[in-house]
Amino acid sequence: MRKKMVMLSALLGLCLTAAFGMGVQAADETEPATELAGTETPETNELGIVEAEQWSEEYPEIVESYLANKDNSEAYSYVEAHPEIATLYEGMGFSSDYNSARGHSYTLEDVQATTRPHALSNCLACKTADYVQLLNKYGVDFYSMSFEDAVAEMNEPITCYDCHTNDPSLGAAPIRQPMIDAVGEDYDSISSSVLSCGQCHNEYYFEPENKAVTHPYTGIANATPDAILAYYNEMGFTDYQNPRTLTNQIKVQHPEFETFMADGSMHKALSCADCHMEKATAADGTEYRSHTWVSPLASQSIMDNTCAACHTDAETVTAKVKDLQEEITARETEVAQILVDLTEKLAAAVEGGEYTDEELDAIRALNRDAQFYWDFVFVENSEGAHNSTLSRNCLDKSEELANEALALFK
Ligand code: HEC
Ligand code: HEC
Ligand code: HEC
Ligand code: HEC
Repeated sequence: MRKKMVMLSALLGLCLTAAFGMGVQAADETEPATELAGTETPETNELGIVEAEQWSEEYPEIVESYLANKDNSEAYSYVEAHPEIATLYEGMGFSSDYNSARGHSYTLEDVQATTRPHALSNCLACKTADYVQLLNKYGVDFYSMSFEDAVAEMNEPITCYDCHTNDPSLGAAPIRQPMIDAVGEDYDSISSSVLSCGQCHNEYYFEPENKAVTHPYTGIANATPDAILAYYNEMGFTDYQNPRTLTNQIKVQHPEFETFMADGSMHKALSCADCHMEKATAADGTEYRSHTWVSPLASQSIMDNTCAACHTDAETVTAKVKDLQEEITARETEVAQILVDLTEKLAAAVEGGEYTDEELDAIRALNRDAQFYWDFVFVENSEGAHNSTLSRNCLDKSEELANEALALFK
């Protein structure tokens, strides 16, 4: 392991030397000093992390429930389920390789299995705490290190350290600085059981200059779809260009945090943990949170004990979730068809040559905004359950903008 670290710092030194004409003083000769006073913290690994299974003596049930995330292994192809994305995402990897999410145990496996190009290490930022440790050590240049070199240094998928550092007895908290910076002054007003999930389940982009993970807002008031789109448009940010329409598109990621925090969300008094981590009782009678992160619908205990405390009963609230999801996904498909139509008409117009650049650019601008609003809902993992008001509004805006664009064709 130590040999690995020395090799990494040599590699990084090399790539930084090439880029900036200077070496990096990697302080990797000293073991990380993470011994916590007064607690029986197991020994840390070479990245300064106590690995999950080392906690099994102190927190046997929690570690067992954490390991059970392996059972959430099913994933399906969005590309097969939603053929329209081959057109809408044309020009970027997600158009041909895009699977649904599964359990936290699989983050490192899945990020390596995708055939989407991920040239840089920054794709690993929300897959493992190991990444955060190396980033802290090497600084912002670590984001632009090669993916292959960086992934070889990663030990574990999402682990205790991601939400607790090396002291779970202190409760949960985010460790990812970009999210801490993005919520800014609102940090103290947001539950740490929301922020610890929100540090990864969010919308982000790679800063073009240094490839750093960055969130498109500061403060929760600016974390709405409208404000985020305005932010991207102002900086002229582009994730990919559609090769036929030449529209500079934005690819939204997985904005669960922003959707949950926005106006219209009915459950701001709860945390992500309340609905996604069931309460259980240990052998010694103490209550703990299961660390098997699941859909609430997959937990009879959450449905009966958490949801039914406010809703009539588990059946009623399950039906409510399913009805909403059916409505929102049907609307997604409907609006996607309009976006596909717009994409094809625009591609034909580009090819045909009877439009001026100015006319085409006006259509492209509407195309970009329309697709952003649709994507914000399509890639959000609750399919309308977290905030159906926001999801509906986004899809309505998308349709309006797409129709406005379609009206510009001669
Ligand atoms: C370190 C980043 C990170 C943190 C922190 C994190 N997640 Fe995740 N989560 C992911 C990734 C990445 C996936 C998808 C894994 C895959 O498909 O390989 C995922 C998957 C999930 C899934 C499974 C989704 C499915 O469709 O089966 C649930 C549920 C979930 N997370 C909930 C939570 C909750 C609740 C929290 C906070 C207690 C949380 N996550 C914190 C990154 C994170
Ligand atoms: C009031 C309860 C509630 C809260 C609070 C909540 N969620 Fe959810 N979440 C749901 C429901 C309901 C679904 C839809 C489940 C399904 O489709 O089976 C869902 C779906 C998800 C999924 C997809 C899981 C899957 O199996 O498909 C993820 C990931 C997720 N939520 C993350 C979060 C994060 C992160 C937060 C906090 C920012 C959060 N949730 C807050 C109820 C909640
Ligand atoms: C994705 C984030 C996340 C990860 C990873 C995680 N935890 Fe937690 N953990 C939480 C949250 C959130 C709570 C608090 C729930 C609440 O609001 O009460 C919690 C609570 C706890 C508690 C307090 C007692 C309890 O059950 O409420 C302990 C102890 C704990 N976790 C240990 C661990 C250990 C050990 C690991 C690794 C095997 C781990 N956690 C991994 C998010 C996480
Ligand atoms: C603290 C009380 C409370 C708890 C606990 C609670 N809800 Fe709700 N929920 C509400 C209220 C209030 C509303 C708004 C009125 C309504 O639609 O019933 C709501 C609305 C909803 C909606 C509609 C949301 C939308 O955006 O249209 C869904 C879906 C939902 N709840 C699911 C759940 C699920 C699933 C759970 C458990 C995981 C849960 N709720 C737990 C109070 C709660």
